Amino acid sequence: MKQYRVGVLGCTGMVGQRFVTLLADHPWFRVAALAASPRSAGKTYREATGSRWAMKQPIPENIADMIVLDAMGDMDRIVSLVDFVFCAVDMKGEEILALEQGYAKRECPVISNNKQHRAFPDVPMVVPELNADHIAVIETQRKRLGTKRGFVAVKSNCSLQSYVPAIHPLLDLGVTKVLACTYQAISGAGKTFETFPEIVDNVIPYIGGEEEKSEQEPLKIWGHMENGLIVNATTPSITSQCFRVPVSDGHMAAVFFSIEQKVPAEEIIRRWTEFRGPAQELALPSAPKQFLHYFTENDRPQTKLDRELENGMAVSIGRLRPDTQYDYKFVCLSHNTLRGAAGGGVLMAELLAAKGYLD
Ligand SMILES: NC(=O)c1ccc[n+]([C@@H]2O[C@H](COP(=O)([O-])OP(=O)(O)OC[C@H]3O[C@@H](n4cnc5c(N)ncnc54)[C@H](OP(=O)(O)O)[C@@H]3O)[C@@H](O)[C@H]2O)c1
Repeated sequence: MKQYRVGVLGCTGMVGQRFVTLLADHPWFRVAALAASPRSAGKTYREATGSRWAMKQPIPENIADMIVLDAMGDMDRIVSLVDFVFCAVDMKGEEILALEQGYAKRECPVISNNKQHRAFPDVPMVVPELNADHIAVIETQRKRLGTKRGFVAVKSNCSLQSYVPAIHPLLDLGVTKVLACTYQAISGAGKTFETFPEIVDNVIPYIGGEEEKSEQEPLKIWGHMENGLIVNATTPSITSQCFRVPVSDGHMAAVFFSIEQKVPAEEIIRRWTEFRGPAQELALPSAPKQFLHYFTENDRPQTKLDRELENGMAVSIGRLRPDTQYDYKFVCLSHNTLRGAAGGGVLMAELLAAKGYLD
């Protein structure tokens, strides 16, 4: 595979730091530019992150002394240095739209972790195992943007990265209703226990905008292509509640669902354990060998024990059992800054590279 030069916009943040650690020795991608706000611009990456470095592993030595650029102000320079960028920034919505479209219109593809482009019907929101075919809408988007190479592709919200993959292999059974309650880690808010002391010994029953995303974004992932655009699915009907819990990394979900075609639990577990998608078939470097792991122990998955499964790229499922109100209920877990953010972004970029969209 060809080597691609990569930029990370928002490199000093929680997701940006994950990108940097994942890209430090990636077989296809090499970090060629780092960018954040004007506050960080001009500093080395080590200085700019300082005490905010939140990863378990140290700052990669081959990246620590790179000078951080200004993601907006140095756009032309960054575009000249890279083949595409990953973007995970905390800015106002209209600024993020302008930033991402600015790069795309300069013929620099953007793989985004931000929410602002997710609802555009010509912007693919891809989980490579589930809806890899949606990347074909990039051709329609390029026409809208007037570009030959540039486009924006997005990651979905991290809250749904456990239960959407778990429900996906069951869709042909006629999944009618899904109820998902999520128990989300503080790194999902860009925080650590040091910067978020009020979460210790506490649960906060509100994450702004999260429940809407958890209910609506799955329908785009399960949508179909029509006239070069993604048309959202209309079923299943989804309801959710999202809580912030005192956990560093890993979003857990308690899920209930109903199906038209009644099948025994063994059939559901068989579908989970046998499930493979294009990420596995293409043997993408970041793809987990086994995407969905089913645990038979009653007390699994557990956040601390299971979030790192397959480098944080697999989904852990357990406790499947009949329910009195729905047909079944189960528990599932995914790592929010790996599969749910940077790792999922890198996997999407690998899919796009394998399919020629980054050439
Ligand atoms: N954390 C997660 O699990 C997760 C999961 C999925 C999606 N996301 C999304 O990813 C994005 C980033 O989240 P995060 O948790 O990594 O946030 P974060 O830790 O607060 O980091 C924010 C980043 O944005 C940069 N930034 C702020 N203002 C900027 C500006 N004016 N120009 C350029 N860069 C600017 C910051 O740079 P400075 O250091 O220079 O200020 C920093 O690098 C958000 O849209 C979030 O919703 C996060």
